Amino acid sequence: MNIETYLENKRTEVERALQNLMLQASGFFEHHIEAMRYSLFAGGKRVRPILCLAAAEAVSDSAETMTNLMPVACALECIHTYSLIHDDLPAMDDDALRRGKPTNHTLFGEAEAILAGDSLLTWAFDLLSASNVSTLTAKIRLSIIQIIAKAAGPIGMVGGQSLDIACENKEFPFKTLQTIHKNKTGALITASIHAGAVGSEASTNQINQLINYGDYIGLAFQIVDDLLNVTSTTEQLGKTAGSDAKLGKATYPAFFGVEETRKKAHQAISCAKDTLIEFDNKADPLRNIADYIYSRSS
Ligand code: IPE
Ligand code: IPE
Ligand code: MG
Ligand code: MG
Repeated sequence: MNIETYLENKRTEVERALQNLMLQASGFFEHHIEAMRYSLFAGGKRVRPILCLAAAEAVSDSAETMTNLMPVACALECIHTYSLIHDDLPAMDDDALRRGKPTNHTLFGEAEAILAGDSLLTWAFDLLSASNVSTLTAKIRLSIIQIIAKAAGPIGMVGGQSLDIACENKEFPFKTLQTIHKNKTGALITASIHAGAVGSEASTNQINQLINYGDYIGLAFQIVDDLLNVTSTTEQLGKTAGSDAKLGKATYPAFFGVEETRKKAHQAISCAKDTLIEFDNKADPLRNIADYIYSRSS
């Protein structure tokens, strides 16, 4: 199957599950839930949930596993969406456009945007721990919760975001730049794949290989995000092009220039595919997603 069709089909499945699982905006908290739903359903690519499902498919062809992992996939998208709402706040990257629409705080105000982010994060863990949406064993569910909590927290996504802000308009060594990218973006991407592997009862060896795959594509994903910020347009991206240079952000193009950055992204993608050498054709979607991450235009 062509990768565009694969991604489109998976995106539709994730969209349907999110619609089914997400809280409805009504009652006392109508406005708050509306703010959560606004960003969640604003049209993201759904890369993290798709990676979670594709990692499970690389290991297992059980339909029950896929059904069980769908709420996990949805929780990952909620955490990612919260991170975007907070990332766009005036105190952070101060962006007015996201997913082709006005950012959450521009429409709902800063206070509500902060709260919508808070609730998407906490609600994700409500969903992950709920026993009525999947037949995952308590042991596997707890292990998935810990993988995701660790990745989203201080030694992961939020830590990376903190370093990203601290390094604005500063000199820093390459190791710091790499640490920012591996954490602010890579950590949740690796966790998505790791959760899919654990949820499909992969062997320790398979889990380790999939984590390595995740680490490479996670880094590549942010390197390409940096590249697109320089080379693409606001219309194409659905978010403000050229913003990184304006904010003095720590990016690969600022550090290495565009051509060298492209090479580094390509290297990471080819390392990612090498990690899958022991997997059969059930891992083809993961191989193709790696290529897609390099060649994507938004
Ligand atoms: C954007 O993520 C922010 C990063 C971590 C690079 P995506 O490119 O996955 O954004 P959406 O979800 O498709 O909007
Ligand atoms: C986003 O990093 C990382 C997270 C939101 C955790 P960026 O600030 O580089 O991403 P964009 O370009 O705003 O999507
Ligand atoms: Mg940022
Ligand atoms: Mg940003």
